Amino acid sequence: TESLQSLILTTLDTDSSIPDTLSLTSPDGTTLEQLQIQGALNSLAAREMLTYKNITRDTWVLTPEAEGLLAEGSYEARVFEVVRAALEGLTIQDLQAKVGKEVAGLGQKAAFRNKWIKQDNGKLVKCVDEVEDVTQAQLKEVKETGNLKNAKVLADLKKRKLVALQKSLSFSVEKGPKFSTTIQKLETDLTAEMIASGSWRKTEFKKYNFNAQGVPPAGGALHPLMKVREEFRNIFFEMGFQEMPTNKFVESSFWNFDALFVPQQHPARDMQDTFFIKDPQGAGLPDDKEYVQRVADVHEKGGFGSIGYRYPYKEEETEKLVLRTHTTSISTNILYKLANAPGGFKPAKYFSIDRVFRNESVDATHLAEFHQVEGVIADYNLTLGDLIGFMETFFAKMGVTNLRFKAAYNPYTEPSMEIFSYHSGLKRWVEIGNSGLFRPEMLEPMGLPKGVRVIGWGLSLERPTMIKYGVDNIRELLGHKVSLGFIGSNPAVRLDKKMGREAVKEGA
Ligand code: PHE
Repeated sequence: TESLQSLILTTLDTDSSIPDTLSLTSPDGTTLEQLQIQGALNSLAAREMLTYKNITRDTWVLTPEAEGLLAEGSYEARVFEVVRAALEGLTIQDLQAKVGKEVAGLGQKAAFRNKWIKQDNGKLVKCVDEVEDVTQAQLKEVKETGNLKNAKVLADLKKRKLVALQKSLSFSVEKGPKFSTTIQKLETDLTAEMIASGSWRKTEFKKYNFNAQGVPPAGGALHPLMKVREEFRNIFFEMGFQEMPTNKFVESSFWNFDALFVPQQHPARDMQDTFFIKDPQGAGLPDDKEYVQRVADVHEKGGFGSIGYRYPYKEEETEKLVLRTHTTSISTNILYKLANAPGGFKPAKYFSIDRVFRNESVDATHLAEFHQVEGVIADYNLTLGDLIGFMETFFAKMGVTNLRFKAAYNPYTEPSMEIFSYHSGLKRWVEIGNSGLFRPEMLEPMGLPKGVRVIGWGLSLERPTMIKYGVDNIRELLGHKVSLGFIGSNPAVRLDKKMGREAVKEGA
């Protein structure tokens, strides 16, 4: 580009203007692309060393077929040559064998029309000794001048698809106010030193190019999980739920297990399944000592119509700190507060979406932490039918309409149901959630009135997100291997009819 710029400048210097850059040739004879010239003109014009105007014109160019005719002669001329060379004349079959069927067909017709050849005793013979290949000459004129003087013939060539119109761009160039044959290096930045020394007054700065494409601004982006979380939050808010404060990852065993009537020997409370916190060692116990005692009693001796688990309940077990294994620890705490609200119990609907932790071996679909979407509804006389009906409404809002329920077991709910949805991509029923009616052994020690039933359910946020975003390895979604580009470039999400049903990828 630098040599092109100086070619333009020296040409301007000697000729004082360039009427048309089409005539500009490089010293070594190579053809110059007008687009390249335009680039050079642009940067010189920005320095006010020259001004230029566009010259647009329509040029006729040869099609590939016409290029062939120009090189090898028109079909009729080729046919004539072959006929002339055969002293005895030749049959159509012979002609076809020599020049090909297509050339023979087209060329013969025109050669007859031009009276160059005739038929004699079933053979083709010449009528003249010499012919002039007019078509070839016409194509040559088009090629060289970009036009043809005879407009009728030109129109005919166009109809035969031998020539086509092409727009071409070139430039006329004049000297600018700062014309010079040497290109001065321009400063791009005004520095503190230039201002201090005053040298900026004499410095030539590069002009701003306001048409340049800007650098894309590095904006923040929500993680796909957070986008899907937002969708779930909106569904909950739409259905009249309040959000529970989940801002504690570390929880006491009391709120994570004991208050939920999870026996102290339950496998979930094993180190294999739960992360225990070493330091500090104990959580202390809730201030409500009577509640703590009622929880201990219901485990050990039963009560509220239950015979309990009948094992020696250990207080130090309840104090152990854990990374919460589910957000049901939060729900439990909120239900306790609801039972003991100053104005007495009032029906309520709560939800939460946050992280939970499980000591699992990590693979493509499991991490040691994930997000749980959880909801609880507390009201008088709720039934299993209410739970099923509610689940259908809730999941329909995210486009999942075909649900099945399967009896399951949770220590804290009875009955309990796993929720399945038919995945048309995987062609099987996939589990999408866990639910149930909380047990009286959990609710009544809190002080909830007898007729109050609480339904609850939980699902992972990761599974619908992976399905929605077509991610089949959870480690690409969460954790240190996640690519920032993936997060930045993903679109907003709308839970729609396709979610969980038509997505094909095998999810969590
Ligand atoms: N805590 C359950 C889980 O971790 C989900 C659940 C919440 C089930 C509430 C029933 C009621 O899978």
